[in-house]
Amino acid sequence: MMVKHVQRPLSPNQLEAFYHSDFVSDQIAHFQVLFGTTLAEASVDAALVLDIGGGVGFFAERLRQRLGVRVRVVDVDPISVTKCMERGVEASQADAAEVPSRGDEAVICFNLILHHLVGMDSESTRALQVRALARWRRAGLRIFVNEYIYESYIPGFAGALIFYVTSSRLLSAAAKFVSRLVPALRANTFGTGVRFRGANEWIALFREAGFVATGHVAGREERVDLPLRLLLIRSIKRSSFVLDPA
Ligand SMILES: C[S@@+](CC[C@H](N)C(=O)[O-])C[C@H]1O[C@@H](n2cnc3c(N)ncnc32)[C@H](O)[C@@H]1O
Repeated sequence: MMVKHVQRPLSPNQLEAFYHSDFVSDQIAHFQVLFGTTLAEASVDAALVLDIGGGVGFFAERLRQRLGVRVRVVDVDPISVTKCMERGVEASQADAAEVPSRGDEAVICFNLILHHLVGMDSESTRALQVRALARWRRAGLRIFVNEYIYESYIPGFAGALIFYVTSSRLLSAAAKFVSRLVPALRANTFGTGVRFRGANEWIALFREAGFVATGHVAGREERVDLPLRLLLIRSIKRSSFVLDPA
């Protein structure tokens, strides 16, 4: 029997915090490095880039301007979908686990969404993330992932700890209180959960979904303040990967 893993939903306030374009320039630069030439060589009219968890459509809009590709956004948040349509980006509401394929997709993007696919525990979280990717495993279809890369002094420790705290109501309440005094510990996902991973952990998860990472652009090192170092976080980046079917 197939187990149905259920995502812990983000609240309207948490979603509203994502209505910005702060990370789009880096995502576009990474995308151009990894896909620019391939898409330019393909018939651009035929190339459709589907942005899953594409939010209010800044990435899709900019990609269309830069590369001339067709774009479509899917997001679970109805307000994001409306905002996409207001800026002339085709969009529809669907859950990442159930996005229907129209058969015209050339590249599927997952920009900073996988770490939000959080279930009741580690196992169901992993299953949600694997399932969202695995449904797009087919010849000729490529995946672009932009994700937070958290590396710890003890491999895997920080991502697991952050998940444990942010997904527990009780621990999140305590952490929220502490974060008033130590702003570096602030998190938008207290009580809902977030699952960051190290680069090798993400690559292992991609493999589980049936993909190999055939391209990689490492993002810039972000500042890791002392309180975060005390959580054994060594480095934080936003990096990108290209995935091809294994
Ligand atoms: C951190 S925001 C990233 C937005 C944009 N992709 C970016 O990089 O700035 C995460 C996005 O994922 C969407 N999301 C979360 N869970 C989802 C799901 N199960 N299916 C589709 N979209 C989801 C949220 O609504 C939000 O727009």
